[in-house]
Amino acid sequence: MRVGVMTGGGDCPGLNAVIRAIVRKGVNTYGDTIIGFRQGWKGVIENITAELTVENTRGILHRGGTILKTSRTNPFKTPEGVEKIMQTLKDQQIDCLLPIGGEDTLGAANKLHGEGARVIGIPKTIDNDLSGTDFTFGFDTAVNIAMEAIDRLHSTAESHDRVIVCEVMGRHAGWIAMHSGIAGGADIILIPEFPFDVSEVVDHLKHRHSTGVNFSIVVVAEGAMPAEGSFATLTEGVDSFGHARLGGIAQALETEMESQTGFETRHTVLGHIQRGGPPSAFDRVLGTRFGIAAIDAVHQGASGQMVALRGGDIKLVPLAEAVGTMKLVDREFYELAQVFFG
Ligand code: F6P
Repeated sequence: MRVGVMTGGGDCPGLNAVIRAIVRKGVNTYGDTIIGFRQGWKGVIENITAELTVENTRGILHRGGTILKTSRTNPFKTPEGVEKIMQTLKDQQIDCLLPIGGEDTLGAANKLHGEGARVIGIPKTIDNDLSGTDFTFGFDTAVNIAMEAIDRLHSTAESHDRVIVCEVMGRHAGWIAMHSGIAGGADIILIPEFPFDVSEVVDHLKHRHSTGVNFSIVVVAEGAMPAEGSFATLTEGVDSFGHARLGGIAQALETEMESQTGFETRHTVLGHIQRGGPPSAFDRVLGTRFGIAAIDAVHQGASGQMVALRGGDIKLVPLAEAVGTMKLVDREFYELAQVFFG
């Protein structure tokens, strides 16, 4: 068979592990030809390809990013986008396309399935906000990077008697903030799911400092916002999927916290450091399992499905289920974190 592979949306540690697994099993076990499309949907629209072989995918398991490159191109932005994709798949004689991506990329994959293309999705995002799967690869690496940063911020915050606000990624969902904040012992965690009341945050900090502790760590997801406010953004405009470029909430909090508490405050934005570099062992293994399951699913005749981690097993779930609603932090989990606030 001729199998197409592409990586779309923001990059994430573990993408190369998936690509390597698809190629290794596809070529060696099934005798497939694997065609890589470069730069996300752009490469499928414009027919920019590179054949992936066992030889040219050696030594990539531990590498961050994606050897195929990626983009935030939205194929449904114009009517010609879909027509061109269907033409490319025909010209390249692709029997099945394996898009590796998050909500946007897999949402487009689901629509293409509706147009008659054979697709099997592979879930990726450091944000871990895709439904249908317990975890996406990339998330574990991002959490570990953020946790280590919080550990480091602790010692400098303590030495200087400061409050430090650490901004982590998480556009709609606070999974990275929750996991890194709980693991790092954050004193307050603010996430998009539960808009916060600034005066409550101030009260928590004042209470903590009244007990003789003179430093605090606040972890805030980039998409968190005050109850009476909106997203903090650094620039105007949106990408081709309509997303604003987030960022700036930690800086806004630094000013607000310092003026309302009188405690010296600093902020740190982790940004793309969370997405770069080598994947954790967990993400290498999960990416490998997803890649193997996807190429097996190609040969089982599946389409319109996504490989997913469910309770330790790899399963196939409908793409529509994965992209229908976002997986968000629920109140019960947030209440667990709140036990340690202030
Ligand atoms: O979608 C994953 C994500 O990491 C979000 O948390 C973040 O808002 C966004 O990507 C940043 O994207 P970009 O690299 O395009 O600025």
